[in-house]
Amino acid sequence: MKTKISILLNIILLAVVAFGVNKFIIQGSTAPTDDGRTAVLVAPSEKDYVLAEMRGFLETVQGITAAIGENNMAEIRVLAGKAGEFSPANVPAPLFAKMPIEFKTLGMETHTLFGDLATLAEAATTPAEVSTALGELMLNCTACHSSYRLDLESEPS
Ligand code: HEC
Repeated sequence: MKTKISILLNIILLAVVAFGVNKFIIQGSTAPTDDGRTAVLVAPSEKDYVLAEMRGFLETVQGITAAIGENNMAEIRVLAGKAGEFSPANVPAPLFAKMPIEFKTLGMETHTLFGDLATLAEAATTPAEVSTALGELMLNCTACHSSYRLDLESEPS
């Protein structure tokens, strides 16, 4: 009897964990939209947080592009290295839970690729190589932008 109850409890616990993993790690909080992208539904402050991150990305890309033109590898190392520093633990947990898995993966991979770019700039390399790597990295920007947008959870379209 005791074993049966404990098996049952384990099954319930597993179901709860599976539900949590599916809801908060894989699915996130999303809605379809009429422009073909998937909306990630967030609170206003969370939207501000993501967009500020994005403007940071654009500043980094701007700085690296300018540095490529000046053959300034030291500057590329600094800028790419900074953008490469990232820990999911720094993202507010409720926001992280709202992002679907593909969104989280693309976002984290983008930071990793900036880290790789810093390493590339450290090795003896040419501006053209950095430019090629930046072009490849930016496929993550365009991939995510063509698939996702941010809508407020209060007014999903
Ligand atoms: C994981 C997904 C993802 C990745 C990767 C990503 N973005 Fe974004 N970005 C978004 C979303 C979502 C928006 C909001 C778009 C919308 O709501 O229409 C956005 C918006 C922006 C904006 C507008 C900011 C504002 O204040 O309105 C800029 C600029 C931007 N991204 C730059 C970049 C650059 C540069 C990269 C690559 C280095 C990048 N993003 C990578 C998802 C991403």
